[in-house]
Amino acid sequence: MKKCQSIVPPPNDPWYSPDMNITDPSHSAAEKSEFSSSEYQKMAKALNELWETLWNKEELDLEVLNHDGLKERLSELEIPKHATQQASLIGHMEKSGLLGVSKLVNGQNPSSTIIAEFGCGRAELSRYVARSQFLTLAETNENQRTQSHRPFFLVDRAGPRMKFDTKILKDYQCDIDKILAEEKEKSFNKDIKIPPPFVKRALIDIKDLNLNVALNNLFPNDLNSDVVAISKHLCGCATDLTLQCLANNTSTLKSIDKPTMTHKLKGLVIALCCRQLCTYETYPLVGRKFLIDSGLITTPDSFRLLTKMTSWALCGRRDDMATDEESVQNHFSGLSIKEREVAGFLARRAIDHGRLLSLCDMGYQSKLIRYVSPETSLENVALIAQ
Ligand SMILES: C[S@@+](CC[C@H](N)C(=O)[O-])C[C@H]1O[C@@H](n2cnc3c(N)ncnc32)[C@H](O)[C@@H]1O
Repeated sequence: MKKCQSIVPPPNDPWYSPDMNITDPSHSAAEKSEFSSSEYQKMAKALNELWETLWNKEELDLEVLNHDGLKERLSELEIPKHATQQASLIGHMEKSGLLGVSKLVNGQNPSSTIIAEFGCGRAELSRYVARSQFLTLAETNENQRTQSHRPFFLVDRAGPRMKFDTKILKDYQCDIDKILAEEKEKSFNKDIKIPPPFVKRALIDIKDLNLNVALNNLFPNDLNSDVVAISKHLCGCATDLTLQCLANNTSTLKSIDKPTMTHKLKGLVIALCCRQLCTYETYPLVGRKFLIDSGLITTPDSFRLLTKMTSWALCGRRDDMATDEESVQNHFSGLSIKEREVAGFLARRAIDHGRLLSLCDMGYQSKLIRYVSPETSLENVALIAQ
């Protein structure tokens, strides 16, 4: 008999711990698939109330940053959509002290920082983080350069082709050669000693990842180092699984003395997307309490309704679309296009706000920002904690 290709055997890595990062495993998926127009309208009204009372009718700050690590890349591209996002995310990492290149403290090099990229895909974000770290290190004093150590942990449940894992090391060699050539030209003849980055990848669903065990096994020389979690477009519940994975497997600012946890969460920069894929059983419990207390949800079904409405924020308006009045009659929600767009953005904001509160509860100074303009990407919100 032929083996079925769709059945993937469970990994036998020691860090595979089935479902350990699902926040509420007692709950099984919500049943209801259809909602009435009055349910949609009630949700839209509750979201508008939050807009007025909690967010004072203010949009998230737009803060587009940059980093020299992407300068060359940006100049090569005609449509630099992804590079612009990467540059801003890395700019925010640097601004929040999360780039993983620490300053010497009293002449000492503090322990290294592991950059963990969740839902990394081909790991292009890590590639440019490594490059940005390199450029920052090249500017620092020799002692700090030589002692620097830059571990990267890449996590994805899929194994895409054309990964950048080895390219990260090739970039490093190119940069070293370039700097050496420049130094030679200036006849400084100085050796630039910056150790290469150290990259490991795990093919695993974040829901099953025991991060503590993975880091201890894959980075045995980095016990006790800090962890910075990063991601660009970590879809739906993968963000929530990541938050739970970090809460379960690192010591946080609030629970600093978890004796079994080897690593401390220093902070995170995660660009969010696809809230319609969030699920009740994986969403943070602190966030769930916020949604319940603010009258948005009462049941797993109403959570699903909220997630469903988030996709309205991105449906886009076309010239040939119905007028507002016609669109009310044509849509199952009984809401106009404009009302649906607004409700979609506010539903996204509510889901993200619950995530923000869960990080505040872990002791972190946290914020949500628009890290690129909507022209660059409509999925332009990042969650930052430090
Ligand atoms: C939208 S893609 C972004 C990929 C990459 N970060 C980028 O910017 O190109 C989302 C990635 O997250 C991964 N992903 C989604 N859910 C996941 C999960 N539960 N565990 C691990 N990886 C996940 C997908 O396989 C995919 O590679």
